[in-house]
Amino acid sequence: MKTVKDYIRSIVDFPHEGIVFRDVTTLFADARGFRMAVDQLLHPWAGMDIDKVAGLEARGFILGGAVAHQLGTGFVPIRKKGKLPGAVISESYVLEYGEAVLEVHDDALLRGERVLIVDDLLATGGTAEAGIRLCRRLGAEVIGCGFVIELPALGGRERIEALGLPVQALCA
Ligand code: PRP
Ligand code: ADE
Repeated sequence: MKTVKDYIRSIVDFPHEGIVFRDVTTLFADARGFRMAVDQLLHPWAGMDIDKVAGLEARGFILGGAVAHQLGTGFVPIRKKGKLPGAVISESYVLEYGEAVLEVHDDALLRGERVLIVDDLLATGGTAEAGIRLCRRLGAEVIGCGFVIELPALGGRERIEALGLPVQALCA
């Protein structure tokens, strides 16, 4: 019986020399693999009171949209700078191989709404922390973060747990 990890491939030296890129397109392309990943991602949160799933661009949209559908919640895209058409708030961050800015529409979450953050991969945790900060700035309550893969050596779990949040990862 294949596990989620078996569907993920590694591409060496992408996007820069020295980075081993975990490519989840092979997971998404397989019907069983994709369903397994979505089912496992939503499992810990099923039955909890959740208003919205927030997905981190880009692969967090694919996973987060499916998780939101299954949980019966709304979906909020947290996007790279300049992509959202309405008024936004922004947070800059550093990740394993660069720097970037994330944005969310300033009316995407209501005060007190309970939000689950979803992405494909947790490395340094810079991206997820920026997403958490954006949600919290809008007055929402982030209840946790779910990822398909974590890279434990980069310390992302500790960084997110230090913000008081549970972290779920399906494999490392
Ligand atoms: C990858 C991944 C996470 C982030 C994790 O996205 O999908 O969002 O890096 O890294 P961190 O934990 O060190 O912040 P990437 O920034 O490559 O953007 P993309 O999804 O637009 O390709
Ligand atoms: N984001 C940060 N590091 C990554 C990696 N090694 N593979 C895929 N996405 C990443």
